[in-house]
Amino acid sequence: METAVRAAVAIAQDPDNPLDCLRVREVPLPEAPEGWVRVQVKASSLNQHDLWTLRGVGHDPENIPIVLGCDVAGVTEDGREVILHPVIADPDAGAGDETLDPRRALLSERHDGGFAEYIAVPERCLIDKPKHLSFEEAACLPVAWGTAFRMLFGRAQAKPGESVLVQGAGGGVTSAAIALAAAAGLRVFVTSRSEEKRLQALELGAAAVFASGERLPERVDYIVETVGEATWAHSLKCLKPGGAVVVCGATTGFDPSADLARVFYQQLRVLGSTGSTLEESRAVARFVELKGLRPRIDRTLDLEQIGDGFAAMADGDLNGKIVVTI
Ligand SMILES: NC(=O)c1ccc[n+]([C@@H]2O[C@H](COP(=O)([O-])OP(=O)(O)OC[C@H]3O[C@@H](n4cnc5c(N)ncnc54)[C@H](OP(=O)(O)O)[C@@H]3O)[C@@H](O)[C@H]2O)c1
Repeated sequence: METAVRAAVAIAQDPDNPLDCLRVREVPLPEAPEGWVRVQVKASSLNQHDLWTLRGVGHDPENIPIVLGCDVAGVTEDGREVILHPVIADPDAGAGDETLDPRRALLSERHDGGFAEYIAVPERCLIDKPKHLSFEEAACLPVAWGTAFRMLFGRAQAKPGESVLVQGAGGGVTSAAIALAAAAGLRVFVTSRSEEKRLQALELGAAAVFASGERLPERVDYIVETVGEATWAHSLKCLKPGGAVVVCGATTGFDPSADLARVFYQQLRVLGSTGSTLEESRAVARFVELKGLRPRIDRTLDLEQIGDGFAAMADGDLNGKIVVTI
C-alpha cells in the first residue's frame, strides 16, 4: 500500500478568503490505532462546516493543517461497504448522549476528515451503506441527513400529522429535512428564494411552497432553521403558540433580533441541535433504505476540483449536495 495519499487540506484560516486556505496535496496514509479502522474513501460530500473551518469559525487554529471532509462512504479493509457516523465522542461523557460530550468532535475537527483516499475512524462509526444508494448518494447522508433527522425526531420529537416549515429548499440539511419529514407523515411547508427549488421541494414531498419570507396560510408546530438572520424573524412569526424552532446553523448570520416578546408571549421553544448520535445515524440509514429515499446531488467532482465546489457553496449556488469522488 502507498504510504502517502491525496487529500484536500485546510492549511490556514482566513475569514475573507477561505478558499485561499485550501490545498489538494499528499498526506501520510492514516494509521488506525487500537479500536480504530482504516476505510478506503469512495465518495465524500461538502458541508458548510468545511467552509467555517477554512474561515476560522468554530475550529481551533491549533488543529490546522487538517484534512477536511465530515461525510464519508467507503469500503473497509475486509470489504464492507459503509458510511461513517461523523461524530467522534464518548456517550458516557454526555450522560448517554454523545452529542453532549464536551469533547465531541466532528470528523475533520480534531481528526483528519474524509477528503482523502483513506480515513481512520473508531470502529463504532461504521454503518452499513444503504444498499439502494450509490457511494456518491450515501456520502450525502451522515452530516446533512443525520442532522435533519435529529432536529425533527430527536429534538422536536415531531409526530405524523404535525406540521413543519423548512426554511430553504436547496441546502443539504433542508433538502434532507423535507424528504424525511414528508416520508414520516408530517405536513411540510417549504420556503426558498428560487422558483426551481420550490418546485423540487414539491417533488420531495412538500405540501406547499412559498417564497422566502412569504406569509403562510396557517401556523406550524415546528420550524427547521439553518439560515439564521435572513429567516429568523419569519420563523418565529410562523409558529403556533407553544411551537418549536429547531436551529442547527445560521448561514446568513448569528445575531438576528431575538424577538423576546414573541418568544415568551407565544410560549415558543428554541431548540439548538448539533450532530447526531450513533443510533440516530443508524436510524437515518435504515429509514432511507426502508422508504427508498435518495439524496439530491447538485454535482459530482474529482478531488482536484474541490475548490470549484466550495466556491459554489460559498455563493449559495447549489441545489442539493456537492459530492467528491476519490
Ligand atoms: N449543527 C450541526 O450539526 C450542523 C450540521 C450541518 C449543517 N449545519 C449548519 O447548517 C447550515 C446549513 O448547512 P448546509 O450544509 O445544509 O448548507 P447549504 O447546503 O449551503 O444550505 C443553504 C440553505 O440556506 C438557504 N439560504 C441561504 N441563504 C439564504 C438567504 N439569504 N435567505 C433564505 N435562505 C437562504 C438555502 O435555501 P434556498 O437556496 O432554497 O433559498 C439553503 O436551503 C450551515 O450554517 C451549517 O454550518 C449545522
